[in-house]
Amino acid sequence: MTHVLRVAIVDPKDSSRESLKSMLLGIDTIWLDADCSRYEFFQDVVQQTHPDIAIIALDAKPEKALELVARINEVCPECSIFVVSGSTDGNLILRAMRAGAKEFLTQPLKTNDIADALSRMEERRAGKGKTRSRGTATICVAGATGGVGSTSIAVNLACALAKNPDRTVGLVDLDLCLGDADVFLDTIPDYTIVDVAQNVTRLDFTLLKRSLTKHASGVYLLPRPVSMQDVSLITPEDLQRVIGLLKATFSHLVIDLSKGYTQNDMVAMSMATSILLVTQMDLPCLRNVVRLLATLGPMEGVGEKIRIVLNRTGLGDTQISLKKAQDTIGREIYWQLPNDYRTMVEVRNNGVPLVDQSPKAAVTQAIVGLAETLGGEQEQEDAAKQADPTKSSIGKILGFWSKGKSSK
Ligand SMILES: Nc1ncnc2c1ncn2[C@@H]1O[C@H](COP(=O)(O)OP(=O)(O)OP(=O)(O)O)[C@@H](O)[C@H]1O
Ligand SMILES: [Mg+2]
Repeated sequence: MTHVLRVAIVDPKDSSRESLKSMLLGIDTIWLDADCSRYEFFQDVVQQTHPDIAIIALDAKPEKALELVARINEVCPECSIFVVSGSTDGNLILRAMRAGAKEFLTQPLKTNDIADALSRMEERRAGKGKTRSRGTATICVAGATGGVGSTSIAVNLACALAKNPDRTVGLVDLDLCLGDADVFLDTIPDYTIVDVAQNVTRLDFTLLKRSLTKHASGVYLLPRPVSMQDVSLITPEDLQRVIGLLKATFSHLVIDLSKGYTQNDMVAMSMATSILLVTQMDLPCLRNVVRLLATLGPMEGVGEKIRIVLNRTGLGDTQISLKKAQDTIGREIYWQLPNDYRTMVEVRNNGVPLVDQSPKAAVTQAIVGLAETLGGEQEQEDAAKQADPTKSSIGKILGFWSKGKSSK
């Protein structure tokens, strides 16, 4: 299971609710959407937030809680109900299951109990053909050097993906100092990534969408901080939770990375399903691609996701052939985008995406093709299998990264 499941809990007992909450917050494949201390309010909470799983603690008032299980099961049949109790009374278990609970978890709970229940739930859903096989396609766009075209590709890829109304698309500007994704979309955002990062534990699905800037294309933008001083407020841990929340919210996420290859960029890459490494066909760029692949390539959870995107092909002044470039890099070129400076500058200056401004241009067709390939069902499934959003793998990657940095 690689996608994030949204969970709401109700437990009138503060101590057990808090310990359940902290356990859930430690599981990366779970996003805690809402926690509630009153049985009376929980039905409304579930109807408003539409979680994948509702966890109902029975012990405060078992009769009231069982009624709630039956009601939630009736009004939200798509939501899986787990109940939690310190009791192992067979009669209580039977009544909870008859009311509609899918899992009966006994206190004291361990993380493994929840993980096992989640796997069983996935198996049941898969059996009914209901599995959410579409994990969030999380596409990071990195660049081999400054000005190589990463933001142009990230923004236009997000807009091309959003053309399909079945998709929900988020765009994150992780170029925290100098990012300009807002310029490409001609928007003046109310909130930035700093607001979301600082409130991430309090945000639910609805509030998150309100904190993002919705562009006419349908893309939701999370922009860089307004002030450069605020950049340091975003820690890798915050970012991990922000991306977790975004993955629980959108079907597709595009992240424009900085060229600094910072710890935050590494977190994003480790949570991605694909990493597009944008380069041009010149010597300094290709040399950087080789260097980047030498460093990132061996990293488990990163290296295997990297795809080389050659931007501005056909730019007159290059003496390097495609074959020579591939031989130098040691990898296939995954995608090519033709050079079209006039169109690209026009779309940026007008703040209108390629798909709307120049739908017939060759560069637009190349972006649309890339979006369809990356956004396609099969691609998502394959990519989701590669994604490893566990904390331990991020920890390992960050450890590897800081060790490398300090030894320089
Ligand atoms: N395929 C293309 N053909 C022609 N020009 C392009 C193409 N892609 C991008 N450009 C132009 O290259 C310039 C840099 O693009 P962009 O800002 O997207 O690069 P970047 O890698 O994000 O830069 P930075 O390192 O500053 O973040 C822009 O003027 C853009 O219009
Ligand atoms: Mg950029």
